[in-house]
This record gives sequence, C-alpha cells and structure tokens, in this order.
Amino acid sequence: MRAPHTAVTLLLSSLTFLSTTACRPAGGSSSAAAAVSDAELDARRAAEEDQRLVRAGRDVFRYDTFGDEAFWTGTLQLDRAIAGEANGGVGPGLSPRTALAVGLKVDRDALPHKVQEAIVAGQVDLDDPAVTLTLLKADAVVGLKGTFDGAGKLTAVGIQCALCHSTVNDSLAGGIGRRLDGWPNQDLNVGAIVSIAPNLQPVADLISLAGPTVDVPTLKTVLGTWGPGKYDASVFLDGKALRPDGGSAAVLIPPAFGLAGVNLATWTGWGSVTYWNAFVANLEMHGQGTFYDPRLDDAARFPIAARAGFGHLTASPDLVTPKLAALHRYQLSLAAPRPPEGSFDRAAAARGRGVFEGPAACARCHVPPLFTEPGLNLHSPAEMGIDDFQAQRSPTGAYRTAPLAGLSAHSRRGFFHDGRFATLDDVVKHYDGHFGLGLTAAQQADLVEYLKSL
Ligand code: HEC
Ligand code: HEC
Repeated sequence: MRAPHTAVTLLLSSLTFLSTTACRPAGGSSSAAAAVSDAELDARRAAEEDQRLVRAGRDVFRYDTFGDEAFWTGTLQLDRAIAGEANGGVGPGLSPRTALAVGLKVDRDALPHKVQEAIVAGQVDLDDPAVTLTLLKADAVVGLKGTFDGAGKLTAVGIQCALCHSTVNDSLAGGIGRRLDGWPNQDLNVGAIVSIAPNLQPVADLISLAGPTVDVPTLKTVLGTWGPGKYDASVFLDGKALRPDGGSAAVLIPPAFGLAGVNLATWTGWGSVTYWNAFVANLEMHGQGTFYDPRLDDAARFPIAARAGFGHLTASPDLVTPKLAALHRYQLSLAAPRPPEGSFDRAAAARGRGVFEGPAACARCHVPPLFTEPGLNLHSPAEMGIDDFQAQRSPTGAYRTAPLAGLSAHSRRGFFHDGRFATLDDVVKHYDGHFGLGLTAAQQADLVEYLKSL
C-alpha cells in the first residue's frame, strides 16, 4: 500500500523541480527575486493572507459592535444613563471614577499625549461625566463604543468583545494603560453596568419567558449577585437566576487567549471557539446576525431560548457572519502570557511538574502542552467531584477540562467555572481528596508552584 504514496511524492517533487526551473530567467542569471519558487510565493501569499486576517480580527475583537447598539441603546437606553442629564441623558451620568470603579478600562494609546500627561498630573476631573464622554469620543473606553452626532451629543453606545476579554496593564494609572487582549477583565462588574440602564423592562420580560414573572427590582437584585469578573450568559436562555442553594449563578469570565488547539470552548464545552463567538455576538451582545443551534429548541433545558427562537436567528444585513473567520483567527493568535518574573519558585515548579505528570496524574486530562485533552475534552460533574448545576445548563451536561497556561492572568477571582476554589492550594486539596491521591504537603506545594509557572 506504499506505492501510491511514493508516486504522489515523486510527482510532487518533480512539479516543484519544474516550477523552480521555470522561474529561472533564460540565460541562467540568478537574481534573488527571480529565484523565488512558486512554493515560496505560495508561502508568502499564505503568510500575507494570515496577517490580514489577524489584523482584521483584532479590529473586530476590539472595535466591532455587530450592530448591538440596537439593544444597548435602542432598547436599554444605556447611552442616556452614561451621558447623564447635564449632557442630554438621564440621571447623574457615568463619571470616570465610577466607570473605573465598575471595572471599565481606559486604553492609553487612544489618548493624545497631553491628555495622558494631564491624567498623571491629576488634572483630569474624574467626577465629571462629560470627561467619560470625551474618553468615549477618543475610542478609549475598552469594549464600549460611543456614537456622537454633529453637535457632540452621545447618540448611541454598543459593546465589544474587548469589554470582558481585554484589560489594560495600568501603566498610566489604575485602570488606564495598554490593552492586553484576551485577558479576562477580573474587575469588570457587568451586573452593575447593566443595572444603570434606564429601561430594563425588556430584559425582565425576556427572563419572565421561563415562567414566573420577574420584575425590574428582582432583575437588579440578580444582576447584583454577579460581582466583579463574572457574568451569567445562561440566565438569558434558562431564566435560572440563582443556584438552588441561593448562590450566584454567574461564572468567571475566562481568558480568550491560549485556545489554539483546544477543541471545545467555554466552561461547559458548548462548542468550538468560532461556535461560541457567533453565539455571544448574537445572543449575549445582541448583535445583528445569523445563528443556528437547534439544541436551543430544548424547552426543558432552555425555556427562554426555545420560546424566543434563539437557535434560529437571521438578520439582514448580517453584521456577524462576515467577521467570524477573522475573529476566529485573531483569537487563535493570542498566546497565553508567561507568568511575571519571580512570581513562582523555579526549583519547586520543576519538582511539581514531576508530580503533575506522575503521582497526581493531572496530565491524564490536562495533557501538556495544551493542558486539555486532544479530543473530547469533557468530564461529568461526578467525575470532577463537584455539583452539576452549571453543567446541566449546557447541552453537554459536563465540564470542559480548562486549559491551564496563563493562570497568572486570572487568579484573582478563584478557580473552576464559578471561582469556587479561592486559591490553587484549594484546587489541589480538592483533587487530592476527590481522587484519593495521598500527596504529601510538599508535593502539593510543588504542584502549586508548577501551576503558577504555566
Ligand atoms: C459580557 C461579557 C462578555 C462579552 C462581551 C463577551 N464574552 Fe466571551 N465569555 C464571557 C463569559 C462569562 C464566558 C464563559 C461562558 C461560559 O462558559 O458559560 C465567555 C467565554 C468565551 C470564550 C470561551 C473561552 C474558553 O475558555 O473556552 C470565548 C472564545 C469567548 N468568550 C470569546 C468572546 C468573543 C469573541 C466575544 C465578542 C464576540 C465575547 N466573548 C464577548 C463573557 C463575555
Ligand atoms: C478527570 C480530568 C481531570 C483531572 C484528572 C484533573 N483535572 Fe483539572 N480540570 C478538569 C476540568 C474538567 C476542569 C474545569 C472544572 C470547572 O470548570 O469547574 C479543571 C480545572 C482545573 C483548574 C482550574 C482552571 C481555571 O481556569 O480555573 C486547575 C488549576 C486544575 N484543573 C488543575 C489540575 C491539577 C493540578 C490536577 C491534578 C491534581 C488536575 N487538574 C486534574 C479536569 C481534570
């Protein structure tokens, strides 16, 4: 059975030979440009196309709203609350101080040097909502896009992927610095931001589709349970506002980096990265696009999604689908960041690797270097030794093996989907007990240093 393969290889190599010779100008002179083979030209074209996609995808990730202003402005009127009465909206408006306090970040590179200097010198009035509008005009509020009319009045706001999946490095001041794309914003209080919208009735009506009527005050209570760094994407599908034990039903905003090679995305493995990108752009951000997933017709699991037809959305024009390829490519280009210098003990981490791959058998699921399974990277709640609440809110009924590289970029709100383990020590203790590993205290400590090194 080797023969056909060999024949193909021979054919290919002779084709390469032919094309290389064909490129040589008659007379045998070999200028560098003329010597470029077709194979090399193909490689260059592929690299150029790849770079184009990555750049276009970065723009989508950072700056695209997919037309979601229709929801955030048209329905919720969030623009009016941000502007405040003094600037043609309603209420006190969103001051920069409050914006930073609810975790919004400012991209210093979008600001003129003079403004950056004024911020450092403390000459910018952080209590004036008009300053927030100036930042929005400069496209400097990460993840939030403002549209202004000729008179400078804010007429619309929309949200972008970067709202939740980017932060900044605080290089100018707390919350103000260079963008770090893919890093989850651990400070962002989505619930608090949504809560200031003047018209939350449509959201209350949506959640009421699950059964009992939910009024706006109740909705605000639920939004208040999320807290910083968390969001509940599923409540808009199933109406489950709280866990059965009364706790928050929100999950941690995960990183959007380090996902190349990872099969299923999200804590509960809803689908691939590009599946989830389409899901979020349409169903969570309320962009104007096309989305298909008949699993959402399951009225027992997703009463709201089934009634609202979320699995069968179309829009004309479609402002999502044409952007998915570039967005996907950009996300896969985001490597997990290396941990800061000096943030872990190297010798202990090296020993910890031995524990991870040896007696603790972590690598049986977190397979290096992906740190998730090549293949179907899902496990049942029972296998993980945790409750099934969040898993049952997904079509998979399972938890996805979380890729572990870059943990240092998201260690402030706990670990596992809902942040239930405050520290990596707690995670290791859980595994030691659940799997009956019998690790010594020293092995556990080494394991933690290894996790910090990834
Ligand atoms: C309001 C905050 C928010 C916004 C905006 C948002 N996401 Fe997310 N994203 C989340 C949360 C929360 C999850 C986890 C959901 C879950 O597992 O239930 C998530 C999960 C993901 C994942 C899976 C990560 C993994 O570890 O598998 C990817 C990829 C992702 N989002 C990309 C995007 C893209 C692309 C956009 C813009 C189209 C976007 N997100 C907009 C909050 C957000
Ligand atoms: C049976 C497969 C399996 C084994 C074995 C396993 N894990 Fe996990 N791991 C998972 C899954 C699934 C999750 C996601 C749990 C969740 O989201 O609630 C996870 C999550 C984690 C997290 C949290 C990541 C985050 O972003 O919050 C850490 C840290 C971790 N595992 C470390 C380890 C260590 C250390 C070991 C060995 C002692 C280990 N795991 C063994 C499947 C496994």
